[in-house]
Amino acid sequence: MSGDESSEHPDHPEHRSTTADRLADLSLRETEIEAAEKRARDRQHRKGKLTARERIDLLVDPGSFVEIDAFVRHRCHDFGMEANRPYGDGVVTGFATIDGRRVCLFSHDFTVLGGSLGVAHGEKVIKALDMAMQVGCPMISINDSAGARIQEGVASLAYYAEVGRRVVKASGVIPQISLNAGPCAGGAAYIPALGDFTVMADEISYMFVTGPDVVETVTGERPTFDELGGPKVSMEVSGNVHYIGADEQDSIEWVKSLLSYLPDNNLSHPPVYDSDFSTEITESDLELDTLIPDSLNTSYDVHNVITRLVDDGEFLETQAGFAPNLVTGMARIEGHTVGVVANNPMYYAGALEIDSSEKAARFVRFCDAFNIPLLTLVDVPGYLPGVDQERRGILRRGIKLLYAYAESTVPKVTVVLRKAYGGGYAVMGSKHLGADVNFSWPTGEVAVMGAAGAVAVMNSRKLAALDEAERAQETERLTAEYEANFSNPYFAAERGYIDAVIRPSQTRTKVAKALAMLRDKRESSPAKKHSTMPL
Ligand code: HXC
Repeated sequence: MSGDESSEHPDHPEHRSTTADRLADLSLRETEIEAAEKRARDRQHRKGKLTARERIDLLVDPGSFVEIDAFVRHRCHDFGMEANRPYGDGVVTGFATIDGRRVCLFSHDFTVLGGSLGVAHGEKVIKALDMAMQVGCPMISINDSAGARIQEGVASLAYYAEVGRRVVKASGVIPQISLNAGPCAGGAAYIPALGDFTVMADEISYMFVTGPDVVETVTGERPTFDELGGPKVSMEVSGNVHYIGADEQDSIEWVKSLLSYLPDNNLSHPPVYDSDFSTEITESDLELDTLIPDSLNTSYDVHNVITRLVDDGEFLETQAGFAPNLVTGMARIEGHTVGVVANNPMYYAGALEIDSSEKAARFVRFCDAFNIPLLTLVDVPGYLPGVDQERRGILRRGIKLLYAYAESTVPKVTVVLRKAYGGGYAVMGSKHLGADVNFSWPTGEVAVMGAAGAVAVMNSRKLAALDEAERAQETERLTAEYEANFSNPYFAAERGYIDAVIRPSQTRTKVAKALAMLRDKRESSPAKKHSTMPL
């Protein structure tokens, strides 16, 4: 008789549980998970927050979520951890569809060890990320976590680094979007920081590398959570986030909307939507003919231009509260996604400075990585002068925008609305950095600087020798001369730096035609390991 047939062997029918027993056993385990979910609901709802699974349910198509690794538990024996081994280990992972398109995701469960990351938790996140990379679909993280799990020591740090390495590998291959709905502390904040877009739900979220306790121990000051990394600070000061949702639902809707503009991966194209685009000049187009104020020193809101150029006036702005002198965001033209970069004269007269340069550079690079054409609207008096800007590295940091445009290969259409002065002209999607089609309105002024500054610089000695009345008269004459030569788009158009001077009311249709012409554009860059962008 072979060993397998012995009645003492565990596989012998006498010892084997029936299929019904096994189903009952699964039910028991599922009940344990459901009970934990109920406890989580109570705890989270008391704090005005949703649970990890409720968040996923709101985000994805009904019934599409497939949870994986729900039975994963930590294997830590230190600090009495063996007595507390909840299923899932503080993170819910899996895959689903959003508007019928695949996504992989993870969602922290703060009610399990503060959603902290240990080895098992880290392995789950890595599995979901690897899956997203293998199939080429966006990765979404919903963050509500206290960071590295203290009880698991260096292993927690190791797994954060392992996760970070994969996020970096996935960077530029699949879109990576983070939604913060609670604390996002220490290592947990590394994931949104490394990813492409971060949304923060107002009132309940904050993100930082070190919390108030550690800050107080080291520096003696005791900041509040909001002062350290609340939504307002993260948007307006640090520039860490792209959108603040009024609540979790609003944050989730924004993520869905953002996804609708993005391709699944770097080898695919963004989805194309039906559009009732018309080539007829509309009332809204005609309003652009009177939009530019007659005085150079009067501002206007560039949003009024953007919304008149894009389908249904719909513009998904990113980082609206950070460096508002430069506007970035997604829109569609003839149903195709376009990334918009625009100076906004409402702030700093639209001048470029460190924050706006970095904001725009990052946006341009994202669009370039994911086959999203760029529409650049220019009204820039140049770089913001000042000791503070120079010392904080306007050269090293401002140059990133030039770098981003110059290395991009996606279709690029630029429209000069008014000022295109100095470095601002060169950097904001100029022909010389590789833009494909460059338009200017007749109000465009493409020059090294504005007339007042130019006249003063070129004639300082001559003007200083004159008495006051003569100086005023001569300044007026020289200014008129400069304006006739340079305060227009024709000096640049003569050289082919501007392809066409167009009426503002024609812009929507001309831009659409240019983008349609460029749709199959192919441009390659020399093979290299990677560029050495100044960081
Ligand atoms: C394990 C943790 C934990 C952690 C909190 N908990 N942080 N467990 N590891 N890092 C547990 C608590 O013991 C508690 O368990 C539960 O989570 C909820 O925590 P509370 O403090 O009660 O919640 P709250 O008052 O809302 O405060 C949230 C918090 C605070 C601000 C996030 O918990 C906090 O400051 N935690 C430490 C945050 C931090 O410094 N993380 C950085 C780690 S270093 P019970 O059982 O009572 O519910 C790091 C570097 C990574 O991440 C480097 C990567 C390379």
